[in-house]
Amino acid sequence: MEVGVSTRDVQQFDGDAVAVGVFSDDAEVQGPAATLDKAMAGVISQLRASGEITGTAGEVTLIHTLGKIEPERVAILGLGPRKRFTADRVRRAAAIASRALRKAGAKRVGLALAWAESGVNLAQAARAAAEGALLGLYAFDVYKAKKNGGNGGNEGACKEIEALTILGRGREPALRSAVERGRILAEATNFARDLGNEPPNVLSPEELANRARRMAEETGLECEIFGQKEMEKQGMGALLGVAQGSEREPRFIILRWRGGRKGEPGPAFVGKGITFDTGGISIKPAEGMQAMKMDMCGGAAVIGAMRAIALLKPAINVTGIVPTTENMPGGNAYRPGDILRASNGKTIEIVNTDAEGRLILADALSYAVKHQHTPIVDAATLTGACVIALGHVRAGLYSNDETLQRAIMAASETAGEKYWPMPMDEEYEAQIASEVADVKQTGGRPAGSITAAKVLENFVAETPWAHMDIAGVNDSEKRDAASDPGATGFAVRTFAELAMQLADRNGTSAR
Ligand code: BES
Ligand code: ZN
Ligand code: ZN
Repeated sequence: MEVGVSTRDVQQFDGDAVAVGVFSDDAEVQGPAATLDKAMAGVISQLRASGEITGTAGEVTLIHTLGKIEPERVAILGLGPRKRFTADRVRRAAAIASRALRKAGAKRVGLALAWAESGVNLAQAARAAAEGALLGLYAFDVYKAKKNGGNGGNEGACKEIEALTILGRGREPALRSAVERGRILAEATNFARDLGNEPPNVLSPEELANRARRMAEETGLECEIFGQKEMEKQGMGALLGVAQGSEREPRFIILRWRGGRKGEPGPAFVGKGITFDTGGISIKPAEGMQAMKMDMCGGAAVIGAMRAIALLKPAINVTGIVPTTENMPGGNAYRPGDILRASNGKTIEIVNTDAEGRLILADALSYAVKHQHTPIVDAATLTGACVIALGHVRAGLYSNDETLQRAIMAASETAGEKYWPMPMDEEYEAQIASEVADVKQTGGRPAGSITAAKVLENFVAETPWAHMDIAGVNDSEKRDAASDPGATGFAVRTFAELAMQLADRNGTSAR
């Protein structure tokens, strides 16, 4: 799909359909909607007055223009109250509009959702509109003869939007670069969603590494991949412990973007890459286990973010690290009671083989510390406890550094992803004290997501570090107006935005 911009007036848009917004608390229709209203003999204000259009967030009303203007169809989007208008509202409205118009068969769609009013500036709104549309139109249907696109899989022919135009006021170059940024971020997110949605028979650790390498070749990232032998040489005993129950070999994926000063290590982004989590010997219940094909979504987010970074070209060096393996039961699987030694030398007493994520991250974080990366940020579908704490709305954020935590909260807000800071008091450490090793793998049920973060903290030394537990937000079960169910690509945009903000702070002298 082509993505473009236009600063022309909305009634001059020459595609098949155009979307405009209305606020729920405006007495009269305003902005681009008012322009169209005039061109169409007041039909929008009439629907508004009759209560058929209320402007409630999420509302979408399709009307035929019957030749009064160039586009055949107009979609009127509810934007909610003007005073609670945010970029996120634009993102969602753009997703809903483009899905509804795709379903209606529109091929060339204009979104007039970017205009500098109501506290959201033009660039933010334009970026959010592009992001929302591309995220909303995403479908994972490579294994289906009947495609999902736009018709819920009921028709053979797939309806696709061919060209998307973001209509906005203001300077065209500014509009264009905002839309381009939105496009890159959304496509990187969709790349990560593809990885998450792939079935686990296809997406083995080796295949995940192949896809990362192919992406790196396409975008100009450096890529290094360790196999089992190299991991043994590096003493990655925690990762290898988890991997030993699987017939498939583990991989350790490293992606490097060099946009900064030579020799400066820069930040590392680390992601959990369990391509399937059975729980191992501490096996999970059968019900719902298929969702554990998505236990590599932290890793996918890192790979997706590195793709976005390669295209956005921030003036900073960034390294992406993804340890990847299956967690399987088997004759050679690791056991509760085992003691594993991570590559930083610390030993871990295993109590539950289902708590495997922290083990593979232990070696990845140790690698990041050894190579002097700072700050270190990881993303992982780490604990069910985080899902209990925060549900499917926010990811948990755990950090040893307040400045970094604030930077991530700020980046996530721009990115349109929600996190919530969790406590890291040292009192929690009592739960993971071991009689026989340096640290116990799990701290029992109380505060399970915090004690998991506390285990990780053992492997970051003094480096400023943050951990993002995305177990509740990586997978969306509900089919709603804005998105298909499946992998969400959560954390891609926060990682990419953070890299951009760190680059800005790092000065612009690099390139
Ligand atoms: N991959 C799971 C966590 C998870 C749960 C992700 C639900 C997405 C949805 C992780 O490896 C796991 O099984 N964690 C255990 C840890 C426990 C044994 C200490 C958990 O949360 O139950
Ligand atoms: Zn597990
Ligand atoms: Zn897991």
